[in-house]
Amino acid sequence: MKKQGCEIEAVGIDYKIYRQKRQNPFKIFNKDHQEVVDQELQQQQNPSSKFQQPCPGAGIRYVLKEVNCKAKPWEILAIVGPSGAGKSSLLENLAGKLTPQSGSIFINQTPVDKALFRKISGYVTQNDTLFPLPTVEETLTFSAKLRLRLPQAQLSVRVKSLIQELGLEHVAMARVGDDRFRGISGGERRRVSIGVDVVHDPKVLILDEPTSGLDSTSALQIIDMLRVMAETRGRTIILSIHQPGFRIVKLFSSMLLLANGSVLHQGTVEQLGADLRDMGLQLPLHVNIVEFAIESIEAIQKQRKGPVRVQELGFSDSAPSSGLGTGKFTLEQLFQQSKVVDEETVNVGIDFPRDFANSRLK
Ligand SMILES: Nc1ncnc2c1ncn2[C@@H]1O[C@H](COP(=O)(O)OP(=O)(O)O)[C@@H](O)[C@H]1O
Ligand SMILES: [Mg+2]
Repeated sequence: MKKQGCEIEAVGIDYKIYRQKRQNPFKIFNKDHQEVVDQELQQQQNPSSKFQQPCPGAGIRYVLKEVNCKAKPWEILAIVGPSGAGKSSLLENLAGKLTPQSGSIFINQTPVDKALFRKISGYVTQNDTLFPLPTVEETLTFSAKLRLRLPQAQLSVRVKSLIQELGLEHVAMARVGDDRFRGISGGERRRVSIGVDVVHDPKVLILDEPTSGLDSTSALQIIDMLRVMAETRGRTIILSIHQPGFRIVKLFSSMLLLANGSVLHQGTVEQLGADLRDMGLQLPLHVNIVEFAIESIEAIQKQRKGPVRVQELGFSDSAPSSGLGTGKFTLEQLFQQSKVVDEETVNVGIDFPRDFANSRLK
């Protein structure tokens, strides 16, 4: 029988940031600043005065808007989307590092208890934060000592089995290293970072872009290792990923497509393909579905608001005719569209300086 896992559900998560615009950020003591100070002083003296408004230009930005998602035990949920979509913010909200302004997070249908959740979860950040000089085994032992209250003999058994699980036996005695001290490879270092956060055998593992900066083989090995962790230990694994390769996509149990802080899709890769087809978006041959979905985000958003008109997508009548008129278009057409925009941006008649040694426009 399968042991009890952790199902995580987020309902209606809103996360917003408050930003303040200053007209001239380099002038600290300019007139506007003095006016703001005067307003603040006046408000302190007379709170009911007419200066109740926040500073002009101040605004609220929704980083996440009504996000609903569900991650199940024994599975990997991958959060995909372009840079700035809100992937890291969503992970931090799920991990309890940020608190959403509205919405709730449930663990096995009960509201999350942050202190308890920290004990049963691990969070791996995007950048490796490891000491360069200790060896792999020393690094993991250090983490085990901090997280587990076990006698030395049991600690070392736990570390040995973890090193095996991470596939790091051949570098166990090698220094971790960094940019200055040569050590283990980038993929191995990422495994050590994951090991540091799974040494206490958490039920939930959250990873922010675990494959960023790695070559495709190392990236595949990392995701494959995470899949084994999910399938053999019943862990709930939630990760964000920017541009997963085709073989990586096949390892995900479920995918959440995020754009501008909103969820556009959650389900299996096959469901994503079917949804895109229903929208009239035909996946071209030899194109990765996630890449295609990310490229088509604008079209998906427009489809959700209402039926897409070809003119709205910016295709001219002289564009290749496949699918036009039915709302269907290919990735090539999307690329063509962005190419036209790029060319227009370059040919705006700006006289770029050409006298510098590194000037490309000669
Ligand atoms: N504390 C913050 N201050 C300013 N901007 C923020 C803050 N947190 C998030 N953002 C903005 O919210 C957006 C989403 O950020 P993030 O979650 O890091 O995106 P992703 O991980 O998908 O690249 C970005 O545009 C980012 O600049
Ligand atoms: Mg990020």
